[in-house]
Amino acid sequence: MRSYFYPLALASVVACTSTPPQTAPASTSLAAPIPAATPLVTEKAMVVSAHPEATRVGIEILRKGGNAYDAAVAVQFALAVVLPAAGNIGGGGFVLYRGADGSEGALDFRETAPAAATRDMYLDAQGNIIPNLSTLGHRAAGVPGTVAGMVELHRKLGKLPWAEVVQPAVELAATGVKLTEKEAAGLNNTNFITTTIVVGQHFEHIEPTPGVRAEISVPEFKQAPNTYKRADRAWQAGDTIRHKYLAATLSRIRDLGSAGFYEGQTADFILAEMQRGNGLITKADLKSYQPRWRTPLHGKYRGHVVLAFPPPSSGGVALLQMLQMLEPYNLRKAGWHSPQATHWLTEAERRVYADRATYLGDPDFGKVPVARLLDNKYNQQRMTSTLPYRATASAQVTSGTGLPGYESDQTTHYSVVDAAGNAVSCTTTLNGAYGSKVVVAGAGFLLNNEMDDFSSKPGTPNAYGLVGGTANAIAPGKRMLSSMTPTIFTKNGKLALVVGTPGGSTIITSVLQASINILDYGMNAQQAVAAPRLHHQWLPDQIDVEAGALLPAAEDTLRARGYTLKPRSPWGRVEVIRVLPGGRLEGGADPRGDDTAGGY
Ligand code: DON
Repeated sequence: MRSYFYPLALASVVACTSTPPQTAPASTSLAAPIPAATPLVTEKAMVVSAHPEATRVGIEILRKGGNAYDAAVAVQFALAVVLPAAGNIGGGGFVLYRGADGSEGALDFRETAPAAATRDMYLDAQGNIIPNLSTLGHRAAGVPGTVAGMVELHRKLGKLPWAEVVQPAVELAATGVKLTEKEAAGLNNTNFITTTIVVGQHFEHIEPTPGVRAEISVPEFKQAPNTYKRADRAWQAGDTIRHKYLAATLSRIRDLGSAGFYEGQTADFILAEMQRGNGLITKADLKSYQPRWRTPLHGKYRGHVVLAFPPPSSGGVALLQMLQMLEPYNLRKAGWHSPQATHWLTEAERRVYADRATYLGDPDFGKVPVARLLDNKYNQQRMTSTLPYRATASAQVTSGTGLPGYESDQTTHYSVVDAAGNAVSCTTTLNGAYGSKVVVAGAGFLLNNEMDDFSSKPGTPNAYGLVGGTANAIAPGKRMLSSMTPTIFTKNGKLALVVGTPGGSTIITSVLQASINILDYGMNAQQAVAAPRLHHQWLPDQIDVEAGALLPAAEDTLRARGYTLKPRSPWGRVEVIRVLPGGRLEGGADPRGDDTAGGY
């Protein structure tokens, strides 16, 4: 086993000025206004997901007597149908849960590198990255974990029969789903279509047979061979998409469980697809895929216990580090998105992303120094290098280069709380929008392009501009480092908050902001998810700013302090459930998408 344990000093700040946390300047100075938003409030149970149909399915399962775990499985499969850009059976994810009895667990169904994968598989003979190889086409796909993960979650914690929780997705696929306006726009998206065509041109071996890519769409339309584009006109809201082949695949999963995906007909389709596109996934890779139970991480923040996802997610470690760094500061007094609060937030984020790049990777393949990174003393010491009214340059925090590379914002999160008080926080992904863009012919689902979450080349940024090193190098069977951050907060031993989001490298900072929006700034759940966001990830050295996040005068102040500000869009869709005093549930469904909270 290789060790990732570098001296932690490596990532510490070179220019260390030993400044203790400062007192906040004048209250609400240049704070941004917090937009009003009304949350859904229910008495007993709630589902928040990225699509109204998936939320509906989850609630139906709860009403039938299913628990939060049954509902989560049903939502996951429903999302594979109604949100093909991100919902999936060809990808992976993380489930964090907390039972009403205080039990807890973290289920890792992250994809793995195929056995034939090698450290330099995306490099040419000169050691340069071969463009697109880790993001587009068959070689970009890791061994999917979703179906095995759902089977395991249900085996351990589910109540209703397996077939009953999968059936709603089979029906959705077979009868068809009406496109929302945003989905129609997504399918018409020129970038997506261009990218898809590029796959066909650059990878001749995966030039799809006519109809292959149409399979996921309506068979009666004449499709351009390798796009989802309609031949006659652009997609419109209300157009119905039926997923004939996906319905058959989901039926096999319903009837056979894991074997309905990793063996038999579905496996044969995947293997044929791999052959067609020179992919690496073999029969043995599929047969041997195993989800893993991990031990959740614990932190504290403002009187709450924070339950977070451990490696191979970087999200939990990073979130807990940031919360430790920020707790000494009076964010509320400084004012929401005031220059001072933004300064503290950014300096914490910068330092934590530098650690992420150096230390985090799959814990089954090397030692990740989690205990050290979560040592409060270490994190307080990291913040002593923060300058009072001046940005610390990322170049001083550690070396490296970074380019912005925000390709897409397509992963998805769902939060579920049932009437008994069991809670599920699940983030699941194909990585990029529509993953590798490869549809498994005959099986009607998309394969992930999660291999790009590995560091193909140390110090070279991936699609999210994230850099990494040995800890996250490719190796057979290894899980690629993730930023997914499903999180649960408790207070006085009771469930308080369920939160998570997609958004690539912005996942961690979006979860952080949604959480502090509630815990520091007193926002309701809907305000907390809707409020415009900020993001800094060490490299590139810039604060990404969503429209409306900062007052123009606050931007000027931050620039004067040495910060570079960059407008950014889109942002991940955060889904929050908060338990109100008295036990009612308050939902925050991200208005940036079709996200919907429902319950009773
Ligand atoms: O696991 C990760 O960190 C990424 N594959 C997540 C990608 C993502 O969130 C894309 N967009 N929303």
